[in-house]
Amino acid sequence: MINIAVLGYGTVGSGVVEVLDTNRECISQRVGEEIRVKYVLDLRDFPGDPVQNILVHNFEEIIRDEDVKIVVEVMGGIEPAYTFVKRSLLAGKSVATSNKALVAKHGAELLSIAKEKQINFLFEASVGGGIPIIRPLNSSMTADEIEEITGILNGTTNYMLTKMFYEGAGYEEVLRQAQENGYAEKNPEADVEGYDACRKIAILSSLISGHQVDFEDIYTEGITEITERDMEYAKQMQMTIKLLASSRRSGECLSAIVAPCLLENTHPLFGVNGVFNAIFVHGNVLGDAMFYGSGAGKLPTASAVVADVVEEAKNLNRNVMTMWKSDKLKLQDKGDTIR
Ligand code: HSE
Repeated sequence: MINIAVLGYGTVGSGVVEVLDTNRECISQRVGEEIRVKYVLDLRDFPGDPVQNILVHNFEEIIRDEDVKIVVEVMGGIEPAYTFVKRSLLAGKSVATSNKALVAKHGAELLSIAKEKQINFLFEASVGGGIPIIRPLNSSMTADEIEEITGILNGTTNYMLTKMFYEGAGYEEVLRQAQENGYAEKNPEADVEGYDACRKIAILSSLISGHQVDFEDIYTEGITEITERDMEYAKQMQMTIKLLASSRRSGECLSAIVAPCLLENTHPLFGVNGVFNAIFVHGNVLGDAMFYGSGAGKLPTASAVVADVVEEAKNLNRNVMTMWKSDKLKLQDKGDTIR
């Protein structure tokens, strides 16, 4: 049994508990033992929710429990998340987080503590929600110099721009729709001003360069100035407008930017619509690769967090490679197996 603690029982935190419960059997099979949520930390109470039985209000209960091997931080924001994550790592507990603000600001320090303690600080869910991008960059693509990453990294603004493109709607109207649908916050600044995408491209830029890239150094422009007329002109030119976050490397130089851009209808990111995210990567030997999927939302984000937990649990079990048993799985009728 591998015990974990979940810090924060909001949208993503409750998703993490749900994913671990729904996929308990296949996760246990992959890890070789069960992953148990021993504690959930939140300031609120949740009467009637089974999580109430494992709810704690005080982080000290978690930090002093040596049975807790992995801490999941899904509170968001810098404090108290930073203090809790740092203390967890210093106590020898691996951490998985979805917190892009934390990773963009303190990633280098937290990674170095994890290295010193011979544990892991994992953050797959901090960029692109459920889309795998951190681990591919850290493992499958490590033979390459990554020369470019360009992506649609914010689902809320992509939803808004898609509505403007297909429905000819104005900025204020699509913002209201994004808020009504629960995509944009009441204060939508982080999304519409591009700050969210900026932190995400800062994380990706740090990964491909191997150096901390300060998000404050990245030129960032959001979509607040985009009008119906802009979109109409784009359409007339067989183009659309997307909020792109891009990072390019040439030797020791790196340039990064977040800005609304005109895209031709032949561009691979042209058809990425709604809340979906997509990330285009160019490696010097691999060439081009694209990652596409649900960039936000409870279960996609929780899926990425739990994948980090599973990966770390496999490490703890010294079972780092994916395995399957030698007993043969009987397939259904031949005609049914491949469609
Ligand atoms: N507000 C973010 C988005 C959530 O819309 O993409 C995921 O980071």
